[in-house]
Amino acid sequence: MKKQIILLGAVLVHLAATFVSCCGKDDASATATANNGSDAITTIMQRKSVRSYTDEPIADSVMESMLRAAVAAPSGMDIRPWHIVVMTDKSCYDTLFAGNFNMEKFKMSSAVVIFCADTTVTRPPRENPDAPAETRPNGLWRDDMGACVENFLLAVEYYGLGAVWTACYPYHDRMDPIRDYLKLPGNVVPYAVVPVGSPAGNDQPKDKWDTSRIHFNRW
Ligand SMILES: Cc1cc2nc3c(=O)[nH]c(=O)nc-3n(C[C@H](O)[C@H](O)[C@H](O)COP(=O)(O)O)c2cc1C
Repeated sequence: MKKQIILLGAVLVHLAATFVSCCGKDDASATATANNGSDAITTIMQRKSVRSYTDEPIADSVMESMLRAAVAAPSGMDIRPWHIVVMTDKSCYDTLFAGNFNMEKFKMSSAVVIFCADTTVTRPPRENPDAPAETRPNGLWRDDMGACVENFLLAVEYYGLGAVWTACYPYHDRMDPIRDYLKLPGNVVPYAVVPVGSPAGNDQPKDKWDTSRIHFNRW
């Protein structure tokens, strides 16, 4: 009997420890658990643009997990042109959202993630491996960057946070202030600016299913 009580005690201690670690804000996997182990399709269908935020900070481990998801994106020839700058210093938010009419709302976000592309990173073509980089531009960097940003947005949804993709490239009035502020090298393009935070409202995903846009075997 005494042995059974000790065993029961050990089980209770273990359960309590698991509960406490699952509730810890710093634990990325715990946040995932809090998301009811949502599957990929649910996360994709629930994703929506969120433009208003509380000022709750984002745990470093959650941010890292979302960035890992971003760079897990597919990339033409596996060139991976992305560089990602995470900004949490709100004093620069005016600059980051220059020209965006939603700027005042975005300034409430806990972090602003700037997706940049090095447009000159290339792999030597098989037929001319010695060609200088500038003669073999990577024509696919925009595609890679789109996949990278979308992966990030899906991870944001997964963690119960909110974000919105705001256009930067190809608008000079949005790119130039960021280029100047971050002193980006000339070959690096600020592609998209993504404010992230805990949603302040109750934004819902849009139903975009339209059978007239889906074609099987013919147009
Ligand atoms: C390339 C791109 C640029 C966008 N730029 C902005 C922007 O500058 N400001 C903004 O509020 N939303 C921007 N959005 C978000 C769209 O408005 C939003 O995705 C669209 O209305 C569909 O809504 P949903 O994301 O909730 O499905 C952009 C989205 C994409 C893909």
